[in-house]
Amino acid sequence: MEKKPLVIGNWKMELSHKGALEAARNLGGILAGKKKDPGAAEVVVCPSFPSLSAVAEVVKKAGVIGVGAQTIHWEEKGAFTGFVSVQQVREWVKWCLLGHSEQRQWAGESDEGVLHKTQMLLSHGITPVVCIGESAEERAGDQVVDKISQQMEGLLANLGRVPMGKLTIAYEPIWAIGTGTLPEADEVAEVVLLIRKLIAGRFDMAVADKVRILYGGSVNEDNVGQYVGGPGADGVLVGGASLKPRQFAAVVSAVESAWG
Ligand code: PGA
Repeated sequence: MEKKPLVIGNWKMELSHKGALEAARNLGGILAGKKKDPGAAEVVVCPSFPSLSAVAEVVKKAGVIGVGAQTIHWEEKGAFTGFVSVQQVREWVKWCLLGHSEQRQWAGESDEGVLHKTQMLLSHGITPVVCIGESAEERAGDQVVDKISQQMEGLLANLGRVPMGKLTIAYEPIWAIGTGTLPEADEVAEVVLLIRKLIAGRFDMAVADKVRILYGGSVNEDNVGQYVGGPGADGVLVGGASLKPRQFAAVVSAVESAWG
């Protein structure tokens, strides 16, 4: 099957429950026309846990938007106050972000945790979107290749070729998230190539080609075109610009044009 570009909206903790429902309804309305468009991007939104089920019901009607969680616990159930497990969301989500830098920073998510969660999600048929990326200090210290290689290594050493092929990777330089500071297009293309080479080195090109590699960090409708298609990414992970349906739909259209 031909690869389609993927556009994921990460709503973080930005919207009220009502706001999330409204955004989902409006986005569904705007994108509904794309249902039969073979060139359409795959679109996913990631609301907060309390809105997952209701948003999933809303977007089901439009039939063009997938739903993802923003993280998950590594266990299926147990005495883990305040956490949410895969079996509590699997009815509604086909996707789940893992290792987002905000989860790493504020909730102590580690590469090891990401690996366990990846395995857990895959065993439930949910696609993990594993976020990796370097900090500003690491970039200044010329450690981008080291950091990306090290973060990929944990996954590559512990996942077989079939699970690996089912993953999505999001390259999100931490310094670009929510800052308006953007990497050059060729910097992103180089990291995309590095990730693909690492996967191909561990398995082969067939697996590496299957994995969709996204870019994320201050993406909007005006800047996104340079990052996708050709040697670039297979899509984008969008924070701020995913909150307003018209703006997000414009990002989706720009990705589709760049793709093709
Ligand atoms: P941003 O967020 O688009 O607002 O920079 C991206 C992300 O955190 O995934």
